[in-house]
Amino acid sequence: MYVEMRRINKTFDGFQASKDVNFGVQKGHLAALLGPSGSGKTTILRMIAGLDRPDSGDILINGNRVNDIPGSKRGIGFVFQNYALFRYMTVADNIAFGLEVQKKNKKEIKDRVEELLELVSMQDLGKRYPHQLSGGQRQRVAFARALAPDPQLLLLDEPFAAIDAKVRRELRTWLKEMIGRVGVTSIFVTHDQEEAVEVADTIIITNQGRIEQIGTPEEVCRHPQTEFVADFVDAERFEALMAVRRVE
Ligand SMILES: Nc1ncnc2c1ncn2[C@@H]1O[C@H](COP(=O)(O)OP(=O)(O)O)[C@@H](O)[C@H]1O
Ligand SMILES: [Mg+2]
Repeated sequence: MYVEMRRINKTFDGFQASKDVNFGVQKGHLAALLGPSGSGKTTILRMIAGLDRPDSGDILINGNRVNDIPGSKRGIGFVFQNYALFRYMTVADNIAFGLEVQKKNKKEIKDRVEELLELVSMQDLGKRYPHQLSGGQRQRVAFARALAPDPQLLLLDEPFAAIDAKVRRELRTWLKEMIGRVGVTSIFVTHDQEEAVEVADTIIITNQGRIEQIGTPEEVCRHPQTEFVADFVDAERFEALMAVRRVE
């Protein structure tokens, strides 16, 4: 396992947001944390990223316990739901940000930014500002910015939530392909079953701070192991999606 959460508990002002959370994600895999709003998905990502500390339990990355290692030293890229691009910086400067922090030299930064602009098919848009881009383009910049320092682990918190439905579909296919191409281990948060089914190798279902079930999209949709999962997952919608895939 590249990432492991072991017996993680986390309380905010007496409210338990994570309850004995255990799961692992294999190297190179894309896992989705899927569950209703308030079920503890973001809390899990923030602890992996080092933005919050668990009260108990161990977080392992590549076999090392990272609880006491600052987030900036964990080799993680983070994509937030609301883009969180720097508004007064160009696309190229946004992508360069993490490299500047690492004090890479100018030539190295320039080359890497060009490489990433190409990766996300935005070669000609490096000089634009975020407000001059569409929602989909902004999220592609956020993705490029997160990847710039070459993280070993990419965390994405509802990356498509602010994007309209049609573009969202295109973007998630794009994201899956990109992540596959880069080969970075990724954990992605969503409350949308269809999104999780289309994108993820593994789905981790969250409910009230607990993990209800872990499995492939097919396993959790066709063989729910708890009443909650049976209720939460729409099996018909899954079968419809599979039928569309067979046609395509
Ligand atoms: N910093 C915080 N302070 C107090 N409560 C929090 C904090 N962060 C999260 N919570 C609570 O923990 C629960 C889980 O939140 P979150 O992990 O954001 O859920 P999700 O991402 O699944 O919507 C929610 O009830 C939320 O109100
Ligand atoms: Mg959340």
